[in-house]
Amino acid sequence: MRIALLSSLVAILAGIGYGSVLNSATGNLLDASSKVLNPAKNILNITSNILDPKDSNSDKKHIDRVPEMVAKNGYPVESHYVTTWDGYILNLHRIPHGKGSKKNNGKVVLLQHGLLASSTDWVIAGPGKGLGYILADEGYDVWLGNARGNFFSRNHTTMNPDKESEFWDFSWHEIGMRDLPMMIDYIIDKTGVDGIYYAGHSQGTTAFYIMASSKPEYNQKVKVHVSLAPIAFMNHMTSPLVRVIAAGERSISVLMDLIGKDEFLPKSGFMSMLSSAICSGEIGALLCSNALFAVCGFSPKQMNVSLIPELVQHYPAGVATKQVLHYAQEINSGRFCQYNLGLIGNTRKYGSMVPPDYNLDEIKTPIHLIYSQNDWMAAVTDVERLAKALGTCLKEKILVTDPKWNHLDFTFGIDAPRLVYKKVQEIFEKY
Ligand SMILES: *[C@@H]1O[C@H](CO)[C@@H](O)[C@H](O)[C@H]1NC(C)=O
Ligand SMILES: *[C@@H]1O[C@H](CO)[C@@H](O)[C@H](O)[C@H]1NC(C)=O
Ligand SMILES: *[C@@H]1O[C@H](CO)[C@@H](O)[C@H](O)[C@H]1NC(C)=O
Repeated sequence: MRIALLSSLVAILAGIGYGSVLNSATGNLLDASSKVLNPAKNILNITSNILDPKDSNSDKKHIDRVPEMVAKNGYPVESHYVTTWDGYILNLHRIPHGKGSKKNNGKVVLLQHGLLASSTDWVIAGPGKGLGYILADEGYDVWLGNARGNFFSRNHTTMNPDKESEFWDFSWHEIGMRDLPMMIDYIIDKTGVDGIYYAGHSQGTTAFYIMASSKPEYNQKVKVHVSLAPIAFMNHMTSPLVRVIAAGERSISVLMDLIGKDEFLPKSGFMSMLSSAICSGEIGALLCSNALFAVCGFSPKQMNVSLIPELVQHYPAGVATKQVLHYAQEINSGRFCQYNLGLIGNTRKYGSMVPPDYNLDEIKTPIHLIYSQNDWMAAVTDVERLAKALGTCLKEKILVTDPKWNHLDFTFGIDAPRLVYKKVQEIFEKY
């Protein structure tokens, strides 16, 4: 059983043309066609690694986290805690204004990170480069969210994330229905504004669509949402790792041996099989063995090589396996809907055989989509379908001019300030 699934995963990787996808995506750095997989050997390596201890985050404890990073750059920074009604303790970071100046435009913005990421996204590139700093310098009161389960929000009033499976029993449905609304209420309460500005990346957009379609009162609490690399429908996405997971989604117990049952912690053997299949070159190998980059890809031209050592220290920032599986389900179903619990589970929880769709018609907050042609996660076809489904709340969709722009370039790309963040500022100024 286990061997059968593994062979099929290897066959998927080797067989269905990832060479061409990856080559067109990232050029020579990930020259897949030059690599020939040896399925038999790889399977042996993976199975022998299945019993390896979990890759742990414990060696990362001494590095600077968001508050230290921001303070070192001379910006004011605060840490806030929000406890959700189901007990998750979320850590928000705040840069209340720019460096030295007290320039204040009276606007409050929440930036919400994507899958496997954290508030680090918005500051790691440094002042003048990270969107968190850029907006603070413009006079915004900048709040950086952290979803349940990531490094900063890995805490709960009663459950221990290292010991209790139940801690990890959530997907981005719960992030959209619980974390986001509670963070927004907290921010509004602290600042006294009547509505916030919102920019999400990847899962930070998914969670927003869930909140705004399911909890109508939050449409008024957000003045505008700028979606960077928007994700709702996913059946055209090309990420090899997520495709492999989607292919194994129905043999769930076997898959969980490889990627972790509760927290998404792919076994090192599984990751090295992937990186040998899809990456080459020193940088490719380093980045592809990191779950964040293996999932999302990267474009060499936009990657600041001197930032890589720091990036691999901070990412992946921690997610539940269920978050990844929920995306895998979307790839298989082509729908934007709640988590599929199987026939019996669905009937019990949703009262229907299949999970209900998120009703995008209900969204009223003005939305601007910024997307790109070479995004492994947010394929152009899927974003265009989302744009149609959003109806009148969609104000604009902007394709990034660089044809090689990839998913993580929205947060780490060298040209992000010029090609993307400038647009974000212009949009915020209109509201
Ligand atoms: C399998 O693992 C061993 C030891 O970690 C390594 O030397 C070898 O290159 C691996 N083989 C493949 C095909 O990845
Ligand atoms: C988790 O939250 C509790 C209650 O606020 C706090 O005492 C504890 O230090 C936190 N643990 C971690 C690891 O942050
Ligand atoms: C690359 O990262 C380094 C280290 O953070 C930074 O000093 C440098 O300015 C960055 N280069 C570009 C082109 O963004």
